[in-house]
Amino acid sequence: MAAQETYNYKVVRQFAIMTVVWGIVGMLVGVWIAAEMAWPALNMDIPWLTFSRLRPLHTNAVVFAFGGCALFATSYYVVQRTSHVRLFSDKLAAFTFWGWQLVIVAAAITLPLGITTTKEYAELEWPIDILITLVWVAYAVVFFGTLAKRRVSHIYVANWFYAAFILAIAVLHVVNSAALPVSFWKSYSAYAGVQDAMVQWWYGHNAVGFFLTAGFLGMMYYFIPKQAERPVYSYRLSVVHFWALAFTYIWAGPHHLHYTALPDWTQSVGMVFSLILLAPSWGGMITGIMTLSGAWEKLRTDPILKFLIVSVSFYGMSTFEGPLMSIKTVNALSHYTDWTIGHVHSGALGWVGMISIGAMYFLIPRLFGRQIHSVKLIETHFWIATIGIVLYISAMWIAGVMQGLMWRAVNADGTLTYSFVESVQAMHPFYIVRTLGGLFFLSGMLLMAYNLWKTIAGATPVEAAIPAPAAAH
Ligand code: HEM
Ligand code: HEM
Repeated sequence: MAAQETYNYKVVRQFAIMTVVWGIVGMLVGVWIAAEMAWPALNMDIPWLTFSRLRPLHTNAVVFAFGGCALFATSYYVVQRTSHVRLFSDKLAAFTFWGWQLVIVAAAITLPLGITTTKEYAELEWPIDILITLVWVAYAVVFFGTLAKRRVSHIYVANWFYAAFILAIAVLHVVNSAALPVSFWKSYSAYAGVQDAMVQWWYGHNAVGFFLTAGFLGMMYYFIPKQAERPVYSYRLSVVHFWALAFTYIWAGPHHLHYTALPDWTQSVGMVFSLILLAPSWGGMITGIMTLSGAWEKLRTDPILKFLIVSVSFYGMSTFEGPLMSIKTVNALSHYTDWTIGHVHSGALGWVGMISIGAMYFLIPRLFGRQIHSVKLIETHFWIATIGIVLYISAMWIAGVMQGLMWRAVNADGTLTYSFVESVQAMHPFYIVRTLGGLFFLSGMLLMAYNLWKTIAGATPVEAAIPAPAAAH
């Protein structure tokens, strides 16, 4: 009898472990730059430790290394499990793993050296951009190739979200990174002036919409029903969610360019689509949370479910706050302030961070055929992480609104009430609280690494058999 066919768990394991590793690295840099804001002398007058160079290192490490590895790991797992087939190509999948790690290492070297295109979230120079494109094409071939040879006729909704994420990021990356190289480490954007800004924020906002949202919604649609052992609350709503979100996100980019040289009508279009975006986002949140109906009591005892459900609550919160901030008059106050940073991290730590952590606690023990070493430590992690987020975002909200109000305060004679440096001084206590919040979140990640290490040390990696045709998954 021929050996039974198995899933490719190797590449899932590799990406899953690197999710935890890069999470720790990226958040450590986050804590460091947060501390530099409170105590600037921490840059020690060393150019590659300055805030300006470490900040893009932080964003690249958390978004593309931590978030990216979590997306690769879960999409490869989900597409195999819901299609009942092995990945389309083991070799190409291995190439995506090693290629992506190379991109991350190249980013970690070039960014502190000051090699950058200066485009936010697209700072990497052209040779690295080409490598990213190659890895991404391979990723698309593996993912869609696996879907194409699936043995289950239906394409589960999580795969729709992963597919949209892969396609949209390919288009965004290629268009926004178009540049003219002048040397090996220097290029100039193919666009100029206001067009450059518009292309950049079409990219930037859709990086939020498709990298930080659509892919993680794929995670939500697989891991919440699995962990809760309940079907998705409304499959119809999930499909409406998908199409509405994919259509609306694409138009919202100009809300990053309010009150700039961008034509005013374009800004208004961006604002209107951002307001509309509340509806599909909340539709998704409701589907995610209501999947627990009939199983609410599990929230009391299951810390993995706590991570997953709290993450969806933060998704709801940040997608309420985003449309609010996109209203021009609100943005007049919030733009350039720490309010934006608070919004970013309620999405980044609360939504992206918590759902990835939950998914990794679900996945990693299964990939090694072990029970988690300590459920209690997961519970502790959950609380430390939640307290960390609350400290971080409330400090930034207060700091942000205060900044906005101080900058616009005028005396009766029309002069400014506060000098800029007075507003900087007023931020000091909040920057300390933010650093503390970051330290909490990072400590949780270290606990996670310890717990997972104890779980998998000495374990033999699992080779899971693919069910025979017609068996349920
Ligand atoms: C320990 C946890 C973290 C800490 C302490 C931290 C800290 C920071 C700091 C200090 C900044 C610079 C803010 C400024 O320029 O004023 C920043 C920016 C940023 N961080 Fe984090 N961060 C953490 C985790 C994360 C995670 C997990 C993500 C994403 C998944 C993330 C995404 C970002 C993004 C996108 C920005 C740029 C925001 C913008 O330009 O508006 N961070 N972070
Ligand atoms: C309905 C959904 C959302 C809308 C309409 C929205 C809207 C906004 C607005 C208006 C800004 C401020 C732009 C500025 O003044 O510069 C912003 C910034 C940002 N948001 Fe959101 N947001 C949404 C959801 C999210 C989510 C879920 C995340 C993260 C996972 C996120 C991540 C970010 C980031 C990273 C920035 C900072 C960009 C930068 O300047 O570097 N947003 N968003």
